Amino acid sequence: MSSLKHVSTRVKGIRASSQSELQSLAAQITQEITQGALKPFKEVIDVSSGDFHKAGMKPVSFLRQVLAVCLYPELLENKDLPLDVRHRAQKFLEICDGESLGSYTASAGMLLIRQNISEFLMKRDPGVPSNPEDVFVSSGSQGALQVIVKLISGAEGETQTGVLTPMPCPHTLPPLLDKAGVTLEPYQLMEERGWAVDLQQLHRALKAARGRCKARAIYISNPGNPTGHVQDRKSIQEVIEFAAAERLLLLVDEVYQDSVFGEGREFISYKKVLFEMGKEISEKVELISFHSLSSARMGECGLRTGFMEILNMDSGVKHFVDTLLCTDICAPVTGQLALHLMVKPPTPGEASYDTYTQEILLTHTTLSHNAQRAQKFLDGLPGMSCQPVIGGIYLYPRLRLPAEIMEQAETSQVEADVLYCQRLLTEEGVLVGAGSQNEEPAGKHHLRLCFLLPPDSLEEVLTRLRSFHLRLMDSQRKTETS
Ligand SMILES: Cc1ncc(COP(=O)(O)O)c(C=O)c1O
Repeated sequence: MSSLKHVSTRVKGIRASSQSELQSLAAQITQEITQGALKPFKEVIDVSSGDFHKAGMKPVSFLRQVLAVCLYPELLENKDLPLDVRHRAQKFLEICDGESLGSYTASAGMLLIRQNISEFLMKRDPGVPSNPEDVFVSSGSQGALQVIVKLISGAEGETQTGVLTPMPCPHTLPPLLDKAGVTLEPYQLMEERGWAVDLQQLHRALKAARGRCKARAIYISNPGNPTGHVQDRKSIQEVIEFAAAERLLLLVDEVYQDSVFGEGREFISYKKVLFEMGKEISEKVELISFHSLSSARMGECGLRTGFMEILNMDSGVKHFVDTLLCTDICAPVTGQLALHLMVKPPTPGEASYDTYTQEILLTHTTLSHNAQRAQKFLDGLPGMSCQPVIGGIYLYPRLRLPAEIMEQAETSQVEADVLYCQRLLTEEGVLVGAGSQNEEPAGKHHLRLCFLLPPDSLEEVLTRLRSFHLRLMDSQRKTETS
């Protein structure tokens, strides 16, 4: 009994999430449909989060084939599978304890995989060294972030750890900080400038934090979730200089580094910019960069594996990281294998190379096409505006809602964008995320839509959304004219 009480107090401490409430509503509607209830739609489409395979995107064949062989080694003899698939599987099994994916590994991940990740990082950032000992494989990149946040948390009151956090931010971040007992100190991104990071806002946030907590870190999502913004070199440099001057740890979520598609735009890693800033800064600023198997390239969210690279931190800290990762024992070995294949894909001349390249290209083209199509479509709706998207997997349009729904929201004591999402879900079967959960300034409302889904599903989402939205706007017009 006493232990249950303890659990409920802790759960109460975590902000209730409109996302989980909307997801419960979606599950309930789906169940009603399964039980024969008549609705104006056949199924619920969920674009509130980046779950690629759930959205209908196809897994990468090479990755699934190697996984299949490793899980069922009898397939090593199956000549229907490409030779390089069987060869890779054989090599991987040889480095697993007991030649089985069912064995534990070192808590920071298998050494070979940490080495492969280092090589991948050096290829991504030519001329910038990487050390496998700085790389830690974890149960999802969120697992890695959780470990770090836990590590920097601790004190209470004015000395409680604060993390400067962008507004808007990934919807999973506030509960993660809450859970670790860390204060979220918001800094506003500039919507009118395509959601750029603004130096003045960082200084303002740091000043506001004083007296409330001790800001120890700054979190960056680049390419941005949910904004679709991609920072250029100058902007990254400014953030690094700010972190250096204020002695802040840089937590850089770069999981969407493969998803940049704006004309003339490219992904530049924080690590590369840091390295090129001269020793005074490059050897001083503490930087942790996160990457994931859930990225747009692989989309293997359910395999729950990611990694982080830790730079310029004391070796004692890395020892603590290792100890905290130990509580999970190790990341799933299936995920570690998939990560190994992500950072070391087939090369030209290997049997799987062409198919692999075509599949990756198709995902990228779909993403780029969808981003443009959805941005223009939403921006063209009355009462909605949407900044251009140059990276990531989300759109974040702004709503200017009719008085009717604002009043309804106030009466029901929910945020107006949450109410919008509830009604859109109930009336049209489309689940989108509500922006207010990301702690925006009062009075502004946004939606979060993941655009990584097959183009025909995207069209279905846009059609349903427009029907609902125009009905809502029309009811306002009628109220005004009556
Ligand atoms: C900003 C951000 N970070 C990380 C992740 C992935 O987390 P994980 O690697 O734990 O699946 C996502 C996926 O949605 C994300 O949007």
